[in-house]
Amino acid sequence: MSGTVSRGEKVVLDDPELGAAVGAGLTRVEDMLHSVVRNDLDFINETSLHLMAAGGKRFRPLFTLLAGQFGDPEHENVTKSAVVVELIHLATLYHDDVMDEATMRRGAVSANNRWTNSVAILTGDYLFSHASRLVADLGTDAARMIAETFGELVTGQLRETVGPVDGENPVNHYLSVIWQKTGSLIAIAGRFGGLFSGAPAEQVAALYEYGAVIGTAFQISDDIIDITSESADSGKTPGTDLREGVHTLPALYELAGDPKPRLAELLSGPITDEDQVQEALVMLRECEGMRQAKATLESYAERAANTLDALPDGSAKRALNALTRYVIDRTN
Ligand code: FPP
Ligand code: MG
Repeated sequence: MSGTVSRGEKVVLDDPELGAAVGAGLTRVEDMLHSVVRNDLDFINETSLHLMAAGGKRFRPLFTLLAGQFGDPEHENVTKSAVVVELIHLATLYHDDVMDEATMRRGAVSANNRWTNSVAILTGDYLFSHASRLVADLGTDAARMIAETFGELVTGQLRETVGPVDGENPVNHYLSVIWQKTGSLIAIAGRFGGLFSGAPAEQVAALYEYGAVIGTAFQISDDIIDITSESADSGKTPGTDLREGVHTLPALYELAGDPKPRLAELLSGPITDEDQVQEALVMLRECEGMRQAKATLESYAERAANTLDALPDGSAKRALNALTRYVIDRTN
């Protein structure tokens, strides 16, 4: 086995040639990421490179590069589109940490914690402006797709903030919100890789569908990790969703079933007391809702595999199957 290409957590590719090609592609992405945000003002360089330098999995660029394998993976626009998607992702992290009042991200202090909310928000805007500039080079269709995706993403974040409307099933609300806030951008990462490598249309469509499925699964696993992890592993502070009063899949399943009265009481609103956050985390880790959430996450493996039917067999398709396992198994 060789060709470990991701930073931090690993996605292992079984074909050394593909591993080397994708590794070289990720280096090009990294170089472009650094060069596009460069600014004459040291302070802006520092704030905008802060999260980029702190690490991150580069999951979205990796997916764009793998999707690019179904056409000409060396095309410059494959790299450029991977950078656009990663810049948008980075911009949302700066804003998300302000909204979540998060203190840690990628094992480093979050930008809002290191500087101020205003600096974090404006840095997110700055990164977004560069993503917009770059996507203009990719043509009006790509710019429209990004604009639509961005609208989706912000709508998801707003819907998460206000919660389900009257009569809306909370699990259905959650699943559609995570598609919007996370799945939509990961789906576009796959679509861009296929599109800009010149892959056939039905393969581009399959890469989009696959991205939608694993993107949604990615957020479910992220939310499970917010409950199960030690911060040293995730680089974030566990329990952030509980402090924000956001119920993710394990809590939603538990509340729809037969929760212990104490857990139901703790989950009735945002938890501000640190001992109570820990108490709720301990109960959530062991509850039936967590078992159900893990089973739902596992069910995405089959859905992801089905979306890959339209793609030709070979090392790139095997790599996408490895990506699926990575997304699902990272909660273990
Ligand atoms: C992560 O959720 C959040 C998102 C994937 C989307 C956030 C979108 C915005 C904040 C809108 C951004 C707007 C502009 C203009 C850039 P999470 O809190 O569950 O994930 P985490 O565990 O990584 O914090
Ligand atoms: Mg967050």
